[in-house]
Amino acid sequence: MMISERMAARLNEQINHEFFNMWTYYSMAYWFENAGLTVFAKYFQKQAKEEQGHGEKIAKYLIDQGAHVRLASLPAPVVDYKSAKEIVEAFIQHEVKTTKMVHEIVDMAIKENDHATRNFIDWKVDEQVEEVASANELAQMVRYAETPGQLMMLEGRVYHMLEK
Ligand SMILES: [Fe+2]
Ligand SMILES: [Fe+2]
Repeated sequence: MMISERMAARLNEQINHEFFNMWTYYSMAYWFENAGLTVFAKYFQKQAKEEQGHGEKIAKYLIDQGAHVRLASLPAPVVDYKSAKEIVEAFIQHEVKTTKMVHEIVDMAIKENDHATRNFIDWKVDEQVEEVASANELAQMVRYAETPGQLMMLEGRVYHMLEK
């Protein structure tokens, strides 16, 4: 194994966290689907699939480094959201937390002189800048909407965000 046991454990934790984000974003997508906001639902489905991709990318790195991938059971995602506003605020919180976790991996890699992981995880540092910006963009729009009708009208802009 080319990385430390400690780093392998930490990266496994991150894989499970990315999959938990996937689970959470599917839960948010289904909430929007139920509310008839199908473009918002698509947005969160796309986010969920991206989270799956992040988990898979880290898993591939572990395997390339001769470590084992250890999946754990995922906590149940929140399902009883009260509003679109609550969802987008939770979305930001998830991405901020994920960013902090990624930065911890960078710190650990530097401490361990683990150049390979340090270099690998840079992709995720950049990715998180985009993820937080995207969550903030969505939240800002939703904060302006006072009625379900206004949320529905926002879907045109969310549609364009999906095309990016
Ligand atoms: Fe992610
Ligand atoms: Fe994310």
